[in-house]
Amino acid sequence: MIAKMPIALALLLLAATTAHAQLENADPMRGQGSAAVCAACHGQDGNSIVGEYPNLAGQHADYIFEHLQYYKSGERQNAIMLGQAANLDEQTMADLAVYYESLEAEIGETPEELAATGRSIYMGGIAEKGVPACVSCHGPAGMGIPSSGYPRLSGQKVQYTMDQLMLYRSGERSGYGQAAVMNEIATELTDDEIQALASYVRGLYAPDVAAE
Ligand code: HEC
Ligand code: HEC
Repeated sequence: MIAKMPIALALLLLAATTAHAQLENADPMRGQGSAAVCAACHGQDGNSIVGEYPNLAGQHADYIFEHLQYYKSGERQNAIMLGQAANLDEQTMADLAVYYESLEAEIGETPEELAATGRSIYMGGIAEKGVPACVSCHGPAGMGIPSSGYPRLSGQKVQYTMDQLMLYRSGERSGYGQAAVMNEIATELTDDEIQALASYVRGLYAPDVAAE
């Protein structure tokens, strides 16, 4: 752990502020008008119906805006989303981003038997493998840090989160923006650890939200 710590710290410090000017002029109502096609997979309210498709409701506008551009450029490789993003201009991307951020994320649950393992890695990392604590970037309630490009994980579909950690691990999701941060972390995770983490963040909320 001691050997790896400086790397995690360096990555933290490297994370530049990534707020986008286009988002200041974005309009969620216009975004809603463009979202009809997205709803087929990401849900009418931004919460997807199928676990393979991510929830977008409550995700940071900066993150959504950036990733639509990564899909369009092909840097984040996915055939479905390449097709979806190919015809979007920056204004429409920005409108969609603020629209989805404004929607309310659904509440998920963590199965009892996976909670302890998931919590342990999320909150404390895995010292012997140099895996940093997820909480240091994704936050105690899984809300991420918008200005640093750290996405919200709270409430995300288990299947999607598992798929993405495996894509980071295999390197299929890599080579753009800050993906390398997650490539390095995911390399060390086993399938069981990935399942526990994905299940944990599905049910991770600020205490007041979970009680509602
Ligand atoms: C046919 C189904 C489908 C449609 C329609 C669709 N998406 Fe997606 N979307 C996906 C899948 C599958 C992924 C995950 C792809 C991957 O693994 O990178 C995804 C991922 C995303 C992500 C990345 C989320 C994250 O947490 O990293 C964003 C943002 C997104 N979609 C926005 C949109 C928007 C906006 C539209 C409408 C213009 C749209 N999608 C239409 C299936 C779809
Ligand atoms: C040093 C900061 C940092 C740490 C620590 C960290 N992450 Fe991340 N995480 C990021 C960044 C940056 C991204 C966005 C990368 C990109 O653009 O693909 C991300 C993205 C993700 C995503 C993709 C979300 C989506 O919507 O597609 C998942 C899942 C994830 N992290 C899980 C974890 C887990 C689990 C841990 C702990 C084992 C962890 N992260 C630790 C910074 C971090």
